[in-house]
Amino acid sequence: METELSRTLGIEHAIFGFTPFPAVAAALSRAGCFGVLGAVRYTAPDDLARDLDWMQEHTDGRPYGLDVVMPAKKVEGVTEADVEAMIPAGHREYVRSVLAKHDVPELAEGEASGWRITGWMEEVARSQLDVAFDYPIKLLANALGSPPPDVVARAHEHGVLVAALAGSARHARRHAEAGIDVVVAQGYEAGGHTGEIASMVLTPDVVDAVSPLPVLAAGGIGSGEQIAAGLALGAQGVWLGSIWLTTTEAELHSRALTEKLLAAGSGDTVRSRALTGKPARQLRTEWTDAWDDPAGPGPLPMPLQGLLVAEAVSRIQKHEVDPLLGTPVGQIVGRMNSERSVRQVVDELTRGFERAVDRINRIAGREQA
Ligand SMILES: Cc1cc2nc3c(=O)[nH]c(=O)nc-3n(C[C@H](O)[C@H](O)[C@H](O)COP(=O)(O)O)c2cc1C
Repeated sequence: METELSRTLGIEHAIFGFTPFPAVAAALSRAGCFGVLGAVRYTAPDDLARDLDWMQEHTDGRPYGLDVVMPAKKVEGVTEADVEAMIPAGHREYVRSVLAKHDVPELAEGEASGWRITGWMEEVARSQLDVAFDYPIKLLANALGSPPPDVVARAHEHGVLVAALAGSARHARRHAEAGIDVVVAQGYEAGGHTGEIASMVLTPDVVDAVSPLPVLAAGGIGSGEQIAAGLALGAQGVWLGSIWLTTTEAELHSRALTEKLLAAGSGDTVRSRALTGKPARQLRTEWTDAWDDPAGPGPLPMPLQGLLVAEAVSRIQKHEVDPLLGTPVGQIVGRMNSERSVRQVVDELTRGFERAVDRINRIAGREQA
């Protein structure tokens, strides 16, 4: 499964895997794909450096990348404490009431809130970049818009390709104008922050909008047949996120959550602002329902909502409070029905791709003798 982009990056399969887990990212690169480590959870640069050291030791010299979350709109000079102070008391009370309704225990004394995600703050993302450019990353991806011009220039100085996610052709054009090298066309079906256009419509729109820039198809891909569809629509590769969550290398740290993912159907996700304040596809739970409830106060905008719910989400995860327990995941969750290693998933993807190519060749009357 080779394309111009996969040859440029020196990978065997044009499969890009986004994951918050270093063990998954490294396994992807070892399996001939391109592992991309999500950095948004790293608040301390030293933690990111430790995990990138580990990646270096476990990728057998194969290429890998890093994904940061730099919002397009710059908010300068605003500290986390400033943002905290903007959260209305009524919203804090609502969080307390939802947790009380489900008897969610407190965190133990001195126990840190593990879910606190601040990587979307410009200064945190920049401190991650200071670390990242010390490592031989081959691609830097950004989730929420084009990275600032100086970051694009810095990446290019280091010979690093810059990718950015786009949920519409308009976003994609903006990325092209900002000097981005690879556009990830991420459809409505995807896990995490997502727009309103389905991959089937979005991929060819983005391919046309930014041609000749390479496009990766993302959202709803979990089989080789779906990879073939993305490539048939003009993409130079695919970008998968959800499918790795139930691999044996993933460190979800919650058996109950893994079981929920394995049992969920494709209709069990919702696009909700409950976690970060921006629409993100995730498992539908009583937590997302509480934020969609017209009787409640509704979610705050990003970045307030993320800080408002950080401790609550940690408590729910730590104590595995089933009705509230969720994670970002896409509609492909309906096909994530067994735990397999990254290598097994990749083998299945490449076999499915070959099946699809054979089928299309037969339909086109080009059957091999
Ligand atoms: C658990 C999870 C967390 C995600 N976090 C990020 C992130 O921090 N940055 C980012 O660029 N994309 C993030 N995404 C989106 C992925 O990069 C990818 O575009 C998406 O998962 C593709 O669609 P799929 O879920 O159908 O495979 C996340 C996805 C999931 C499932």
